[in-house]
Amino acid sequence: MTRAPYLHVRFQPSGSRRRVSADDIVRTLVAEAAAGHLPPGSRLPPVRALEHELGISKNTVQAAYDELCARGVLVSRERDGVFVADGPGRREMARAGAAEAGPPAPKTPPAARLREIPLRQNRPPTGDALRLDMVFVDPDLLPRERIAECFRSVLHVPGLHRFYDAQGYAPLREAIARRLRARGMDVVADDVVTTTGSQQALDAVCRALATRRVACENPVYPYATALFRSLGAELVGLRLDPFEPLPLEEWGRVLAAARPELFYTITSFHNPTGRSCSSHELTGILALASDLDFALLEDDWGSDMLSQGEYRPSLRAFGGRNVLYANSFTKKLLPSLRIGFVAGDERSVPAIIAAKRVATLGNPTLIEAALAELLERGYYDTHLTAMQQALDARYTRCLELLDERMPAGVRWTTPGGGPLLWLEVPRSVDLDALAARLAERQVVVAPTPLAFQGEPHLHGLPLGYAFLDSERLARALEILGAELGRALGSAAAGALA
Ligand SMILES: Cc1ncc(COP(=O)(O)O)c(C=O)c1O
Repeated sequence: MTRAPYLHVRFQPSGSRRRVSADDIVRTLVAEAAAGHLPPGSRLPPVRALEHELGISKNTVQAAYDELCARGVLVSRERDGVFVADGPGRREMARAGAAEAGPPAPKTPPAARLREIPLRQNRPPTGDALRLDMVFVDPDLLPRERIAECFRSVLHVPGLHRFYDAQGYAPLREAIARRLRARGMDVVADDVVTTTGSQQALDAVCRALATRRVACENPVYPYATALFRSLGAELVGLRLDPFEPLPLEEWGRVLAAARPELFYTITSFHNPTGRSCSSHELTGILALASDLDFALLEDDWGSDMLSQGEYRPSLRAFGGRNVLYANSFTKKLLPSLRIGFVAGDERSVPAIIAAKRVATLGNPTLIEAALAELLERGYYDTHLTAMQQALDARYTRCLELLDERMPAGVRWTTPGGGPLLWLEVPRSVDLDALAARLAERQVVVAPTPLAFQGEPHLHGLPLGYAFLDSERLARALEILGAELGRALGSAAAGALA
């Protein structure tokens, strides 16, 4: 049984004494009661608590409490402890000057005045809903047992639990750097800072910026722009149409006028459009950065989701060590692991570590060690191969289903990897109304107005195909096709009327 919390009273030894005496306790509690600071019925510190706190003997405390009980200031209740009396003794105190009404109730402070950060609702996958809005991979494709095995194995690593490295667990940073070098990136373990998902990589880089003016594609992953804005960053949107080449000349004009400090870019399997930059476009972005003097933060979240263990070049591989490179294991392993990282160089890393430390001090070493073990044992590569095959099959099936089910006028991107594509629909379709009708039929889609800066120049939805197995995907796309057909039919009917 939990006892009521006890009052905390500050006792001071009188005169030149070093320790509090029984008289000091009596005098202090009488004065506190007379001043109305001891609410009747409240519990006093147990004898052993005062003995411990003040470094005095149990007998001293007991003698003081006995005296106060005798005077009627306190009452002792067997086994429950000592309490502030509400009887004659207390009235005596009142005559001595204490307020009859007892101590005033503690005042209520105002609620914190909070800023709203506009975000889409965070709905965990539950029940039978067919979630086309998820960028996660189907949990059935994730190596839960092997991760559990690695956790068990690292639990007893000597010294693991003594401290944490604010930069991240060194063997994990080693393993990450090795993987990135194999992809043509110049990265050593000292260049890597682990983070809580790549979301914290974006957070740390933005916090560390000397000037928070950040360019991003428009549309872009809305939690990035919400994050940058919440850190007071000024955003510069660069129009992106996933069906067209990058308008690099237009971007150059916007960037030259706005002079951002950083361009945050998702070069592969862009969220929310699924678009990937061609190698030629990557060199174009590097040229703009060099000519217009802005840094690059490359978010490579989807690159491990390309078929057959293949990778395409990254900005970091082409552009060298100044390019800040962020990636994450959360989508491809367990979302609950929440481990990402950012690779910088000897000049950027100290500022990024400092930014990480002010936010979280460090990551859980246990999780990082388990992940390092998973990489070390080769389990991650085995898992990626199996997952990529499964995702390839889902992607192919998704394209077939879209061909079969989507009404005329609807088109989509063909990312060839990653977890999502963009479905562009005629402007006559009311996206919110469509989402509401689909929700009634247990299909979840998420229009992304928050991904756009200003009026959206695209009219569509991201579709995640990595989360649902092919039977459920077929059902979801059949319902989506039917609802789109109905929306287009009624829009056409409306136009004729
Ligand atoms: C493009 C992109 N970058 C970064 C993140 C952050 O993911 P995490 O923190 O799980 O690594 C996400 C999450 O969906 C994303 O879509």
